[in-house]
Amino acid sequence: MSKTAISAYPKTGAYPQAPTGQRSLCGEILNFAVPTVGIVGMGYVGLPTALSFMDAGRKVIGVDVSRLRLAQIQRGDVDLLDRDRDRLRGHLEADALALAESGEALRDAVAVVVCVPTPVDANLVPDLKPLRAACRVVVENAVPGQLIVLTSTTYVGCTRELVVEPLMARGFTPGVDIHVVFSPERIDPGVASHRPEDTPRVIGGVTKACLQRGLDLLEPTCKHLFTVSSPEAAEMTKLLENTFRAVNIALVNEFADASRALGVDVMEVIGAAATKPYGFMRFNPGPGVGGHCIPCDPHYLLWQLKSERRDSPVIDAAMKAIAARPSKVTTRITELLADLGVPPRQARVHVVGVTFKPGVADLRESPSLDILEWLLRRCLRVTYTDSYVPEIVLAGHQLTSRDDVPPGTDLVVVLTVHPDSDVVGLQEFPTVLDASYRMAAEGVVRV
Ligand SMILES: NC(=O)c1ccc[n+]([C@@H]2O[C@H](COP(=O)([O-])OP(=O)(O)OC[C@H]3O[C@@H](n4cnc5c(N)ncnc54)[C@H](O)[C@@H]3O)[C@@H](O)[C@H]2O)c1
Repeated sequence: MSKTAISAYPKTGAYPQAPTGQRSLCGEILNFAVPTVGIVGMGYVGLPTALSFMDAGRKVIGVDVSRLRLAQIQRGDVDLLDRDRDRLRGHLEADALALAESGEALRDAVAVVVCVPTPVDANLVPDLKPLRAACRVVVENAVPGQLIVLTSTTYVGCTRELVVEPLMARGFTPGVDIHVVFSPERIDPGVASHRPEDTPRVIGGVTKACLQRGLDLLEPTCKHLFTVSSPEAAEMTKLLENTFRAVNIALVNEFADASRALGVDVMEVIGAAATKPYGFMRFNPGPGVGGHCIPCDPHYLLWQLKSERRDSPVIDAAMKAIAARPSKVTTRITELLADLGVPPRQARVHVVGVTFKPGVADLRESPSLDILEWLLRRCLRVTYTDSYVPEIVLAGHQLTSRDDVPPGTDLVVVLTVHPDSDVVGLQEFPTVLDASYRMAAEGVVRV
């Protein structure tokens, strides 16, 4: 595999090995005979990251506070592409992966990668509890010679505040006896064509030596590494990427509304605009955004700018529009039921797809849950189909995914179309609201 480090600094040296038997600050004997990477947070990002390191011949210690998650990983009962589940099984059989609840296990690692969640709370303020807790454990267990890589999306300056300064308070000197970089993740769960090893990765070190250690660690797992001058530049890069996406999704949703008002098929328009080879990037409208990135990450920036008493009106408007998108879908449902002459209390509505995006079982922040809950509070009978989510408990109701659309259904609402979904047959139903914009325009109505 040819690897290109798009690096501002020359890449030298082999993968750094701490001396075997070195005594750690904590007084334990280290065993670096096999390069071991510690991963803190074995979720949607941490687990595939672990697979990449193990593919590259490293051993991995996966640390997670959730015993349930660790047990699921051990059983291979995880939301991964089939090929990645096979990779996990192989590495478990080869004893390449050790799982632990306690951070003490990290003292045996030459490098520690932090991939814990960075959500927002009900007031859209960053909830830094998991990240603070993880960084505290990493710092407490840091040993001389170790490299610490923060990958969780976060505010600008976080790496320095939560990792570098506490390490210095423990007596470490970054770039000398400890190394720290920020390198944001670009994993795209559920999308087979976006392989992490083919996706360029950005990295910023606290010092040049830190950066070099980071490049050496990541290079076997990623063909293209792009260096920036500081952890702050890398933190801001991730915020730009996801804010860019949020703003463009808000824009294309607005175009969908405008196109319907003007009697034009927005998907035809987007397809046509996408023929422009420069200056245009395709985004698709939908029922809203979900997952752990787009609904959350731009709020890290907005929160930080607010603390600096600075406005960011474009981002602010985009995030408000994104948050309001599911209510546009429910308004449309109300209109369609009225057109059908069915009172909502008697309506039978079937929802297709409840995860926040195709190909994953991830329900975090899924706009479908808002829409489903709204329906459950108003309609006689609400059913759903999602091959990735066999059961849902919502608004006091327990629903089981169905293979078919129940006879007598008044309205079918399509929210997410998984790669294995057959939605073509749905067009036979009298009224189909395609909020996913993935179906052919004939025979469906749009938001
Ligand atoms: N999911 C994505 O598609 C994606 C893509 C790129 C970047 N990211 C970013 O990566 C980070 C991780 O996201 P994720 O989707 O993997 O989250 P996740 O919720 O899937 O996984 C996080 C894991 O961390 C564990 N955890 C929480 N606190 C911990 C702690 N203190 N110590 C050890 N483990 C802890 C949780 O139990 C969970 O298993 C976030 O900052 C996210 O914004 C996510």
